[in-house]
Formats: sequence, structure tokens, C-alpha cells
Amino acid sequence: MQLIMLGPPGAGKGTQAKLLSDRYNIPQVSTGDILRKAVAEGTKLGLEAKSHMDSGGLVPDKLVIDIIRDRLADADCANGFILDGFPRTRAQAEGLHEQLQALGKDIDLVIDISVELDDLVSRLTGRRSCKDCGEVYHLTYSPPSKEDICDKCGGSLYLRDDDKEETIKRRFAVYKEQSAQLKGYYQDLGAFFQISGNGAIDDIFEAIVKEIESISNK
Ligand code: AP5
Repeated sequence: MQLIMLGPPGAGKGTQAKLLSDRYNIPQVSTGDILRKAVAEGTKLGLEAKSHMDSGGLVPDKLVIDIIRDRLADADCANGFILDGFPRTRAQAEGLHEQLQALGKDIDLVIDISVELDDLVSRLTGRRSCKDCGEVYHLTYSPPSKEDICDKCGGSLYLRDDDKEETIKRRFAVYKEQSAQLKGYYQDLGAFFQISGNGAIDDIFEAIVKEIESISNK
């Protein structure tokens, strides 16, 4: 099964992708996570991506399309995957389409999560991520048991550089200019599911699962 998560920064794409990955035993493929790892490791890709990410802009299409091509060729993607944070531009969507055709695969469902702007800001400024395992928390909505310590691995939690308020504004503007239009692109192709990201994480997850089961039974 191949799924795409769409939605603005902080909508809950990563949170839901992780739950779906556990439920369906297919990998979450997050371009943001892959790029952050490359930046942390100081690789050539990381050096190229860093300034774009720090400013809240998008990393050039060619780089991310190549990342996805390599990642989707990995053995763990053979039975499906959940794309989280990709595609983000029309060129990326078209690049993905070509790659899927070459692999003989289709997208089964595009899940678009919508959340009001004010809620997004507080989600991002309150988000804390584990430096070691990447687990995501929120200071108010899903806090760790011990302040600044990951429940899962004991690693330390940090505020992402791009979760500072000035960068968040630019990320929203970039989403509006370049990524929001993908809704129309995928609505036209069918298998598109829009869901409000306001509400309990588990309730949103169950609604997404219900939609997936309904298309799987068709
Ligand atoms: P990326 O890491 O993809 O960031 P993003 O799309 O901005 O999305 P986020 O990770 O911020 O949010 P999310 O929707 O996953 O929310 P989450 O589940 O964490 O990209 C970062 C940067 O990398 C980009 O700006 C760009 O520079 C570059 N990049 C990445 N992909 C690229 C691409 N394809 N092309 C070009 N450049 C690319 O939730 C947020 C918080 O809310 C968490 O604390 C969570 O606990 C909480 N939360 C989640 N759901 C709920 C709920 N229902 N109720 C209350 N709190 C909730």
C-alpha cells in the first residue's frame, strides 16, 4: 500500500504517518527526517540542504526527487510506504508519478490533514523532538513523562531550528505558495481523503484507518 500525507507544517503528518507505519508495517518515508539526518551528519546533501531548511524554504526539487528515488528502491519499501513531507511541489509530484510508473505501483490514498493557522503555530513552538530516536512530543498535548527526556530511549529533547516563530511564518508562506496546490492535483487524480487535524490524535488515526479499510475493501 502506498500512501501520501499532505498538509501544512505542524498539521500532524509525521504523527499520523508513524501510527500508520506501525499499524500496516510499512515504512514512514519523511524527507524532513532524511534531510535533518544529513544536516546532522554534515554530508554533502546536508550541506546543500541546510540553508534552505534554516530559512524555512524548500530544498531544490532535484535533490529531494533523487532522495525519494533512492529510498523507494530500498527493500523495506517493496510492500508499500507512507510518504510524509513529499511531494511538496508540482514538479515533485510529477517526479514521483514517473518513479511509481517505473516501479509498477500506484498511490492508494492521499491523506490531506487540515488545521487552523493559530493551532499550527502552537503545535510547532510546543513540539519537542528526540535527538537520538526522532520521537516527537508536544509540551502540552503529548508531553514526555520527564521534562526534556525521551520516554522511548532516554535521549534529550530539542526544539527544531525551523520551529522558531520567524521561520514558521516563512514555512507557512512557502506551503501556501508551493504546496497547497497539490490538493487540487491529487483531487483530480482521485483517491483523496481530507480530514480535519483538530481533535485527539487517536480519533484522527482511527478515521484515517477507516478510510483506508474502505478503499481496500472496494
Ligand atoms: P518537514 O520535516 O517535512 O516539516 P513540515 O512539513 O513543515 O512538517 P512538520 O514536521 O513540521 O509537521 P507535521 O505535519 O509532521 O506535524 P507533527 O506530526 O510533527 O520539513 C522540514 C524542512 O525540510 C522543510 O521546511 C524544507 O526545508 C525541507 N523539506 C522537507 N521535505 C521537503 C521536500 N519534499 N521538498 C523540499 N524541501 C523539503 O506534529 C506537530 C506537533 O503537533 C507535534 O508536537 C505533535 O505532537 C503535535 N500534534 C500532532 N497531532 C496533534 C493533534 N491532533 N492534537 C494536538 N497536537 C498534535
